[in-house]
Amino acid sequence: MTTKREKFGGRMAVILAMAGSAIGLGNIWRFPYMVGEHGGAAFVIVYVVATLLISLPVFLAEVMIGRRSHTNSRDAFARLSRQHPFWKWAGYLTILIPTLIACYYSVIGGWSVEYFLKSCSLSFVRMSPEEASGFFGPFAASPWTPVIMHLIFLGITVAVVAGGVKSGIEKFSKISLPVLFVLILMILTYSVSLPGAGEGVRYLLHPDWNELTPRTFAYAMGQSFYSLSLGMGAIITYGSYVSKKENILTTSAGTAVSDLLFAILAGFAIMPAVFAAGIEPGAGPGLIFQSIPYVFAKMGAGMPVLSAAVSILFFLAIIVAAMTSCISLVEVGVSFLMERSRMSRGRACLILFLLCGGLGVLCSLSFGPLADAKVAGMTIFDLFDWTCSNILLLLMALLAVVFVGWILPRRVVHDEFTNGGRLAFNERLFPAVYFLIKWVAPIAVVVIFFTNFIL
Ligand code: PFF
Repeated sequence: MTTKREKFGGRMAVILAMAGSAIGLGNIWRFPYMVGEHGGAAFVIVYVVATLLISLPVFLAEVMIGRRSHTNSRDAFARLSRQHPFWKWAGYLTILIPTLIACYYSVIGGWSVEYFLKSCSLSFVRMSPEEASGFFGPFAASPWTPVIMHLIFLGITVAVVAGGVKSGIEKFSKISLPVLFVLILMILTYSVSLPGAGEGVRYLLHPDWNELTPRTFAYAMGQSFYSLSLGMGAIITYGSYVSKKENILTTSAGTAVSDLLFAILAGFAIMPAVFAAGIEPGAGPGLIFQSIPYVFAKMGAGMPVLSAAVSILFFLAIIVAAMTSCISLVEVGVSFLMERSRMSRGRACLILFLLCGGLGVLCSLSFGPLADAKVAGMTIFDLFDWTCSNILLLLMALLAVVFVGWILPRRVVHDEFTNGGRLAFNERLFPAVYFLIKWVAPIAVVVIFFTNFIL
């Protein structure tokens, strides 16, 4: 059924592509406001522990499913369970979730494109701080510009995916990820040098232990899963392009550590600026699109050229980060269509563009003309985000760890983790990793799932 599959070209390529998927809006847009809303450093500590003890084992489980089955994420479950009806259906979830996320993720990507263009035309530094932060509401609510920007963002993303695994995805990640780290370091340097930035640094370094509640834990776990692209088929799909020779512990840990590092750098790039401008750190999802332009406008009065330059770099960083993640979301559906329907990559990309583009338009319009179209009290955009991030993602992550911990024979898991017993260090670590996958991760996911509902 499958045609000859492409592969990533080596360890660095795997880490960069996976880190490209992981590092995204979750790090720059979501992580800083989650830290702001859930107790600063206390949240960061829980987040680091949760990433290493729970998310990393889930990540390993997903890479194993992909690499072992060597196929798209829907067929992976079917193949490894020998066509068990339950797992055949469960596999469809791994296609549905990333495709739904790509719809609204590219809307936020489109906002970044508009903010980038506005920064290039020096608009923010010319506005008063209030005007700059007030720009977001009317812009997001307008019927045309955000829709066009969303389609431009998605169009470029799909064009990279159409280039293929090696010459599209791998090449793009190899260039953009190092650029992204340089950009965030430049922004961080600017941000911590602002007068009054010390408060923000202190906020990220001094834990308030009263904030260590089950709720903080649940949010930190959810954020860590989202940030590592877990429970969405993306890592299973990328795992299927990993060669049998790679050490999956090195590639997975490399990805998790880069993602963690980037989230922390983003926190240090954004929080000091937020404090320097005297903005409330728990400002929620509007933090980067409202507070950051405010900061640039405020600082712009004294240093217009520097502020404009940093603002351009900032929104460029967001576009690049969002694009490498959106690429991995689109690739899940593309690899499925190619292998299921023997469709060409180009045609599969076109279908994904039309589907995600169309649904994304509805998500975008839900900030304006369709603001009153609500399901269960939520706008279309919120419905997509809430269903995917709070329900489907956790469900899929649970299915992945249960599959590896309880359905796949232990011998197969061992074989994948140690490359047939050839990796001595992995061999020693295997019992602990297997225990985390089999017991700790599933229990943690179930607990978070209910905590999200109860609290
Ligand atoms: N991990 C990405 C982020 O942090 O922005 C979001 C994401 C990308 C989620 C790809 C899921 C995915 F499959």
